Amino acid sequence: MANTESKRRAALAAIKHVEDNMVIGVGTGSTVSCFIGILGEKVRGGLKVLAVPTSYQSAILLSEQSVPLTSLMDHPSLDIVVDGADEVDPDLNLIKGGGAALTQEKIVASATEHLIIIVDSSKLVQRLGETGAVPVEVIPMAWKLVKTKLEEKGARVVLREGTGKAGPVVTDNANFVLDAYFAKISDPGSLESELKAIPGVVENGLFIGMAELVYVGSDKDLKILRKK
Ligand code: 5RP
Repeated sequence: MANTESKRRAALAAIKHVEDNMVIGVGTGSTVSCFIGILGEKVRGGLKVLAVPTSYQSAILLSEQSVPLTSLMDHPSLDIVVDGADEVDPDLNLIKGGGAALTQEKIVASATEHLIIIVDSSKLVQRLGETGAVPVEVIPMAWKLVKTKLEEKGARVVLREGTGKAGPVVTDNANFVLDAYFAKISDPGSLESELKAIPGVVENGLFIGMAELVYVGSDKDLKILRKK
């Protein structure tokens, strides 16, 4: 069962990878928020880092924690990236985008050789798609067309609705998110490419072969999964 202690355990493991003068990418979500809190303590204690955020949420939290921000324009290559995930399979393939930040998260993840994922044990699955949808960020004028194309591929598709706002979620990039529920994803790599090829799709939440290391926190211990 996910709890704050599990997330903190994973975040504490990831912080050990952060060294003086690194430029790091920082993901989005509740587990990463925990990581940002710990990072802030280190920075206020004298650690020198620059951080590239993946969302307004992370940028605001990093700024509140006095962690200096930078961008991929100034630092297109990152020492490490720390992010969360919605699902992690045994090959360390991921589904991300529960916080609708998948596009910037995938761009930032692609800027490093060292993507470190922090999750609690509820995120481990045998097969991607087991517990949830594949989020797909779409250009607003194309959403209905893309929904139909995803349905033709066998998915049940839901336009993500917001809370605290009537109507669809609008991403940090001013797009919509379709949540595509596939009954069975047998080849996530091929599906990733297929989704990318649909006109109107900006990005999808399948992160294939990108994670180097996954820290899995539980209320009792920490598990480390490494890329084979
Ligand atoms: C946001 C993400 C998050 O990393 C993912 O949803 C996990 O979030 P949390 O740590 O809150 O469970 O992909 O787009």
